[in-house]
Amino acid sequence: MNGMSYTGTGTVTLSLDGTNQTASLPLIAGTTGPSVIDIRKLYADLGIFTFDPGYGGTAACESKITYIDGDAGVLLYRGYPIEQLAEHSTFLEVAYLLLNGELPNAEQKAVFERGVIRHTMLHEQIRSFFNGFRRDAHPMAVLCGVVGAMSAFYHDSLDINDPEHRRISAFRLIAKVPTIAAWAHKYSSGQPFVYPSNKYGYAENLLHMMFAVPTEEYRVSPVLARALDLILILHADHEQNASTSTVRLAGSTGANPFACIAAGIASLWGPAHGGANEAVLKMLGEIGHARHIPEFIAKVKDKNSNARLMGFGHRVYKNYDPRAKIMQRTCHEVLAELGIKDDPLLDLAVELERVALHDDYFVSRKLYPNVDFYSGIILKAMGFPTSMFTALFAVARTVGWVSQWLEMIEDPSQRIGRPRQLYTGAAQRDYPPLAARG
Ligand code: CMC
Repeated sequence: MNGMSYTGTGTVTLSLDGTNQTASLPLIAGTTGPSVIDIRKLYADLGIFTFDPGYGGTAACESKITYIDGDAGVLLYRGYPIEQLAEHSTFLEVAYLLLNGELPNAEQKAVFERGVIRHTMLHEQIRSFFNGFRRDAHPMAVLCGVVGAMSAFYHDSLDINDPEHRRISAFRLIAKVPTIAAWAHKYSSGQPFVYPSNKYGYAENLLHMMFAVPTEEYRVSPVLARALDLILILHADHEQNASTSTVRLAGSTGANPFACIAAGIASLWGPAHGGANEAVLKMLGEIGHARHIPEFIAKVKDKNSNARLMGFGHRVYKNYDPRAKIMQRTCHEVLAELGIKDDPLLDLAVELERVALHDDYFVSRKLYPNVDFYSGIILKAMGFPTSMFTALFAVARTVGWVSQWLEMIEDPSQRIGRPRQLYTGAAQRDYPPLAARG
């Protein structure tokens, strides 16, 4: 096989050594990408489970939404290459595509956009909910809490078996999460909340709610709005990553969509996942200057240090992350548009990338920059505080989470997610009286 993926159908026969027991397992082919062995009858036939911590070789569901070829550096949303969508589409059009499977015609596009824009306001009582948080709360903590609390405010759309309820909840989530994220920032900075305005597009509205203040007129820069829209497109979905799998697992129990998306936000927060964009900036700040790069790289390579080159490496991409390529280009464009000629952070990032890509440690492990390596530099240049980076990722990924949640609920083969385990604890034993214990 030489690492090439196998795409055929048929059966795989497994035999248990030392017995005459065998199992014939169906091999199922997808549209593209490797086939999967259907192991659903494995336990019944051979009395064994499969073992795959981290799920690196396990397909947990069937999906028609997003495809990644990690070796070739390919990312497709509903079959369309991310490069084409980044160049020609908009975030809301991509949202429609992810949710519905096809690109909208002009009328469908207009109706969808109007539907999202008209749902951006929050129930007014959610305002007071923010006051329960400390002023220095991390925006991801606020986002997670307030999105979870949406199920307490929008009772009228919680029946997951009703397609109309699911549709309304999807709109509410996609439309209101940016408002919650922007208000999390306003709350921590002590500025008044800025209400969404229907005169703006999605990314424009987010910039307006983040940066406008009542005392001055705020002009949304079209260049920054387009850059933010692009960043949202690049983060919109990424097949069965940790947070999406969390949403699916939570949703498999029948939990309401607001609770499921709150679970996804919690999962995204970790530095190995969506928290990496914030961690990259912290890392660049700690390195401080290009002359400290060799020392930092040595620390990353030291197995005892636990340090990682943040924004590098990916479970699936073993080649350049296609999103990182677009992000790197956008980074230069945005800085040029903002008139930032020499950004020390960008210079440091470029040099760090150059050093890593010439170092055998990273080359041999196929570690390349991922989407988060450059996104933080753009967001910082646009004026977003570092603590907001992961919240912006969550805004974008809400579309992917909702699409995957909807697909799961509508899948007739959907069952509660319930992995098994390889148990290595104590075998059954009798409870000893206290006096008999050593
Ligand atoms: N810096 C240094 N070494 C690394 C890194 C890194 N960023 N990533 C992986 N390695 C090493 C790792 O130590 C291991 O080495 P060895 O074989 O000697 O033990 C080898 O590469 C394989 O790593 P792994 O941990 O088995 O890989 P994984 O697939 O479990 O982890 C990852 C993927 C993304 C969690 C990891 O590469 C990482 O922690 N990267 C930094 C965090 C980051 O940028 N995350 C954003 C991912 S993209 C956006 C998103 O999905 O949210």
